[in-house]
Order: sequence, then structure tokens, then C-alpha cells
Amino acid sequence: MHIHVLGSGAGGGFPQWNCNCENCKGVRAGTIKAIPRTQSSIAVSANGTDWILFNASPDIKVQLDHFPAIQPAREVRDTAITAIVITDSQIDHVTGLLTLREHNKPWDIYCTDEVKDDLTTGFPVFNILSHFRGVNHHKIETDESVFTIPTAEGIEFTAVPLLSNAPPYSPRRDNTVPGDNVGMNVKDTRTGKTVFYAPGLGVAEPHVLEYMRNADCVLVDGTMWTDDEMSKEGISDKRAIEMGHLDQSSDGGIMSILNSMEKPRKILIHINNTNPILNEDSPQRATLNNAGIELAFDGMDIEL
Ligand code: MLT
Ligand code: MN
Ligand code: ZN
Repeated sequence: MHIHVLGSGAGGGFPQWNCNCENCKGVRAGTIKAIPRTQSSIAVSANGTDWILFNASPDIKVQLDHFPAIQPAREVRDTAITAIVITDSQIDHVTGLLTLREHNKPWDIYCTDEVKDDLTTGFPVFNILSHFRGVNHHKIETDESVFTIPTAEGIEFTAVPLLSNAPPYSPRRDNTVPGDNVGMNVKDTRTGKTVFYAPGLGVAEPHVLEYMRNADCVLVDGTMWTDDEMSKEGISDKRAIEMGHLDQSSDGGIMSILNSMEKPRKILIHINNTNPILNEDSPQRATLNNAGIELAFDGMDIEL
């Protein structure tokens, strides 16, 4: 199975357009060792020809431009993306659907009913797309049943309900139900290898830990190092957990969870621009390196 990281940053990307936190200032000025990152999304393929897109970030045009395999140029209008899986209805994960409006047929989009609800009301991207070629919505169940996508040869998918948060335009903001956020367990049926993808993870519930522990690779929430990172930078009083993200460094945080697991290759994704791990010379980055935890970067290829 091939996994291509299209974008590895959190909402806003890195640097964020209006941000002058230490990291954003530093990467813009070239005074820190750090690489820019676009907003999080991955593409997965078992056969190397047909790709499933997981989330569609506002940066999708430049992400696709940098990934030749996704543009095979077999006809005058073409793409290797055969279907799209959406894990939540946040701006950074769905806005790119608008960029994909020129598709020459309806998009097959797999998401829960809750995500569809937001995308037809508070942020009505599906309604807008209906004025172009439209959307074939395929309902993702939240009972952890395995499903397949006809155009994704050799792959099985399981949606794993997660506790994170719904976006501000959702009626379920701060009061989420299963289906507002799912992680995706993706299995190559030929090799049996699995990747677990969860760019937003607020609470590590036992069933989620089980998927992570059994995966060959986890690509999980790397948003913030500390819960109060935004307030410490004087940016906002919002805590990571209020936004549905578990920090990395606390007891019970993402790092301690990953440290308790033997099997998977451990990779952080959806890294917020305030996170000190973005600075390759930071002690926090050294701590991750020592723990064998990697940071996803734009253009990263993972083979399982
Ligand atoms: C999140 O991950 O919490 C959201 O994407 C935040 C945002 O809207 O940028
Ligand atoms: Mn986000
Ligand atoms: Zn910043």
C-alpha cells in the first residue's frame, strides 16, 4: 500500500498567513530550521494507479501539483483520485472539495451522516457542488464495520468513531456524537498491512488504542505539544482539548500513548504552526526523535 502525505499541517498551515508566533516568524525569515507545511490530507493506493483522497484541504491545488502520480493524463480531463473519504467537516479538511468542482462526473464521497449534515447546512459544500457535477454520498457507518470502495482495488476501510470536536458551524460543536469525527483504519488486503489515520484525536478511548496498537503505521494528531500552547503564544485562550486535540507532551498525551506501543511506525500529522516540534533544533523535537516518533511532511511517501 502506498500512502502519500499531501499536507501535514493543521488548520492555517505553516506559516499561517497572519501569524507571527516564533515558528511562523522564524520559518518566514529563515531564522529557524523548519519546513513549511500545507493543511493535512493524505492519498492512499494499493495498486499505484487508483488513489483514494482522505480529506480535501484548502491547499489541494498545490498539493496535487506536487504529486505527479495523481495526474496520469490519460484523457483531456483526468485524475487518479477515484473517490474521497472525509473524516470530519472542518474547514481544513473539506474546503478543497470546492477546488475539485471541475471533475467531469459526480464525486463519490464517503462520510458519515453527521459530516454530510454539516456539509449540507452550516458549510454547504455539497449543495454548492450540486450546481456542478454533484456528489454521490456514500454513508460511512460508525459501527466499525468494514467497507470497500469499488474503485479502491485491494483496500478495506473501517471508520473508527473518535472523540474530538465538530466545527463551529455545526449544531453539535462542543456536544459531539459518534460520526462527527472518525479515524480511518485502512488495510491492504494483499499484504494485510494497515495504516490508522486520525488527524484529530481528543480522547484516546480503548477501542481507538486497539486500532493504533495493531496498525503497521499510525498517522495521528500532532496538533499541539502542550494543551495551553496557543495562550502561551498570546494567540487565543482556546485549549487544544477544547478544539478536540490531545496534546503530545502531558501524562496520557499522544507521546506517552505512542511510547506504549511496539508495533506501529509512529508519525504525527496535522501539526499546528505554534507547535515547537516544527523547529528541528528544538528540545521537543529531540524528545520525539529519541522516542522514534516521526513528523509527517508534505510529499512524504510511506510504503506498507
Ligand atoms: C481543528 O483541527 O481543530 C480545526 O481545523 C481548527 C481550524 O478551523 O483551523
Ligand atoms: Mn484541523
Ligand atoms: Zn504561527
